[in-house]
Amino acid sequence: MNEETILLPSLREKEVELPVINEDLLEQLKAMMLQSQQFQEMMMMYKCAIREVRTKAEVLNDEMSVRYHRNPISSITSRVKKPESIAQKLYKKNLPFTVEAIMTNLSDVAGVRIICEFIDDIYAIAAMLAMQDDLRLIKIKDYIKYPKPNGYRSYHMIVEIPVFFSKGKTPMRVEIQIRTIAMDFWASLDHELKYKKNIDQEEEEAIAAELLFCADRIAETDRIMQQIRMKLDGVEEKKSEDKSEIIIEG
Ligand code: GTP
Ligand code: MG
Repeated sequence: MNEETILLPSLREKEVELPVINEDLLEQLKAMMLQSQQFQEMMMMYKCAIREVRTKAEVLNDEMSVRYHRNPISSITSRVKKPESIAQKLYKKNLPFTVEAIMTNLSDVAGVRIICEFIDDIYAIAAMLAMQDDLRLIKIKDYIKYPKPNGYRSYHMIVEIPVFFSKGKTPMRVEIQIRTIAMDFWASLDHELKYKKNIDQEEEEAIAAELLFCADRIAETDRIMQQIRMKLDGVEEKKSEDKSEIIIEG
């Protein structure tokens, strides 16, 4: 076994360097490959869980668009974690490479990202999802109220949702990230910076400072956009009140 530091395939996060690979890890990786049918089944189950969560979000969006004549959700994206990222996380957490370890310990194999127009929409959607009695709320991280030091903002929920298969139902965990269009725009650029390999430290720090500056500007813009939205809603309400008065008088 050579003594070099190894990186699992397509592991590009430069801050995470794995220690020397050992026989144990090799054995575990082999075991994981051997039970790959089980792994495939698990991935299928996570994909189904994603569909359930997406449907819930779409239903809420449809209802609100009929009721309030606007869509609080501007888009939804989803993904299952790549096998190599799953392997890396198991390794980092010192967990065995088994389906059971994944299902019990990892909360972000299934991920759904809900992009809203306004900050209030984020909290409204989150509350409406949390209220649903088939959905168990496991954890909330409110990075909007408490942004990360780098400026990252988003509302994270880990939920457990039952998915009905031929042999009965299985509770599946899904990570839901809810953020505004502007927060998403910022996060995608920040993500790119994390994955840039050929960048020296000084330049990286300068970009990080600029990103933090932008994050604060974006947060301010989101707040102002929210206020404008509320003013427009006020005007809208006033107009419909006036209209209903006319109808009553007529
Ligand atoms: P992970 O082990 O990376 O999943 O983090 P965690 O378990 O501490 O959870 P956390 O809620 O902090 O982050 C989960 C996910 O949110 C990440 O996988 C990213 O998709 C996103 N995220 C968190 N922090 C940042 C950040 O600083 N920048 C960007 N672009 N995304 C972030
Ligand atoms: Mg994650």
